[in-house]
Amino acid sequence: MTTLPSPDRRNLYLFPAALASLLFIGSLRIVLDDLKNSRSVFRPPSGGYQALRLIRPPIHVSNEEIIEKGCDIFKGRWVWDNESHPLYTEESCPLLVKQVTCQRNGRPDSSYQNWKWQPDECNLPRFNALKLLEILRDKRLMFVGDSVQRSMFDSMVCLVQSVIPEGKKSLQKVPPRKIFRAEEYNASIEFYWAPFLVESISDHATNHTVLKRLVRLDSISNHTKQWEGVDILVYESYVWWMYKPKINATYGNLENIHEYDVTTAYRTAMETWAKWIETNINSQDQKVFFMTMSPTHLWNWEWKTGDGGNCFGESQPIQQRAYWGTGSNLDIMGIVKDVLGRLRVNVRLLNITQLSEYRKDGHTSVYGERKGKLLTKEQRLDPKTYADCIHWCLPGVPDTWNEILYAVLLQDYRKF
Ligand SMILES: *[C@@H]1O[C@H](CO)[C@@H](O)[C@H](O)[C@H]1NC(C)=O
Ligand SMILES: *[C@@H]1O[C@H](CO)[C@@H](O)[C@H](O)[C@H]1NC(C)=O
Ligand SMILES: *[C@@H]1O[C@H](CO)[C@@H](O)[C@H](O)[C@H]1NC(C)=O
Ligand SMILES: *[C@@H]1O[C@H](CO)[C@@H](O)[C@H](O)[C@H]1NC(C)=O
Ligand SMILES: *[C@@H]1O[C@H](CO)[C@@H](O)[C@H](O)[C@H]1NC(C)=O
Ligand SMILES: *[C@@H]1O[C@H](CO)[C@@H](O)[C@H](O)[C@H]1NC(C)=O
Repeated sequence: MTTLPSPDRRNLYLFPAALASLLFIGSLRIVLDDLKNSRSVFRPPSGGYQALRLIRPPIHVSNEEIIEKGCDIFKGRWVWDNESHPLYTEESCPLLVKQVTCQRNGRPDSSYQNWKWQPDECNLPRFNALKLLEILRDKRLMFVGDSVQRSMFDSMVCLVQSVIPEGKKSLQKVPPRKIFRAEEYNASIEFYWAPFLVESISDHATNHTVLKRLVRLDSISNHTKQWEGVDILVYESYVWWMYKPKINATYGNLENIHEYDVTTAYRTAMETWAKWIETNINSQDQKVFFMTMSPTHLWNWEWKTGDGGNCFGESQPIQQRAYWGTGSNLDIMGIVKDVLGRLRVNVRLLNITQLSEYRKDGHTSVYGERKGKLLTKEQRLDPKTYADCIHWCLPGVPDTWNEILYAVLLQDYRKF
């Protein structure tokens, strides 16, 4: 059995005060997008997919695209590959929000875009947008979670949108959802805002803050109404739980508010979610994935002789094998493992934590936004206060999460 190096737990919950506003802003994005742009970015759907649907090429998985049984795709290393990566650019994806376009926002280095994830024992298939759209034909793919999960949605849209002609694609905001449609495939890629998965006072897509959190550990039906019948669901929930070691929550009576240990609350919420999954998911027709936590890189003493800094100024991945920092909570990981392990419905785990742990270079740092605005020159000069070491630049690390999701979905079409 391999054990992970035990992280120093001193700081597990003590995110800098700046975190609160980052989350606030992250979620505010959806609002700002809305205000600026309540109509779709592309021309409205023009219909006419009916005829095209008749031609339905089978999805072929070539030998190079097969992932051998027993290969752990989450175990590997980052290799330099500026030929194949990035898979798109800031310019080629006009849908990218300012929050993540680090180059345009003045980031001086760009090598964080050129790393490819290389599993130790096999290769990932090359991402193929047309094949993915074929997989999604007549289907809905929905990402559910917080602003980190939203970047996975943004990444997926960027990965596919360039192969779809103008007028045949659209992006709509229907809070708490964002919906990208590929008309000719009758396919949609969606994002659903639910930072705790269960209900909370942070569920409003526009008006909430991490400073005031109240989670309803046993209620989820407000959300699940909109998850019903979705073909492929990809869940994630982590960073909103981690602001303090305790969290205010209710179980049962709404008047009965208690402070719970975050781990207890997280487990209870996961069990509420699991119960819904068990009774509502039909494994024949629906696929469910769970993303493990996206790590943060808030203290540079974890990977070098630190100077009290964070991810700011980091331009290379961590090379040390099995590196594990304090930004990934092992207790939460254990709970996820436990709850998923007991499910009778097949929920596949996308264990992206370790591979993302290496990527201290991938965060937006001071090249993102704060309160809907790019950082000022003065703020950029104070990265200890203002660097965002939670969210990721795009193109970047979330693209790899999607390459992995694609690889797994593609394997389902293998002929045995
Ligand atoms: C790719 O990386 C190699 C090695 O670092 C470098 O010599 C080359 O100029 C790079 N190519 C491009 C297109 O950036
Ligand atoms: C289009 O996709 C939806 C699912 O997203 C499905 O319910 C519907 O039947 C599809 N329409 C056609 C004409 O196949
Ligand atoms: C759930 O939905 C009901 C009815 O729409 C609403 O009254 C209630 O406040 C919602 N609960 C939460 C936690 O948002
Ligand atoms: C936001 O929510 C708070 C508390 O729920 C409420 O007092 C306030 O009026 C809301 N603000 C807006 C702009 O809706
Ligand atoms: C829980 O709510 C109370 C009352 O609003 C507040 O004083 C306390 O700080 C909250 N606890 C946490 C962990 O946020
Ligand atoms: C994810 O992978 C890490 C090692 O990379 C492992 O310690 C952890 O238990 C895995 N998580 C789950 C839920 O299996």
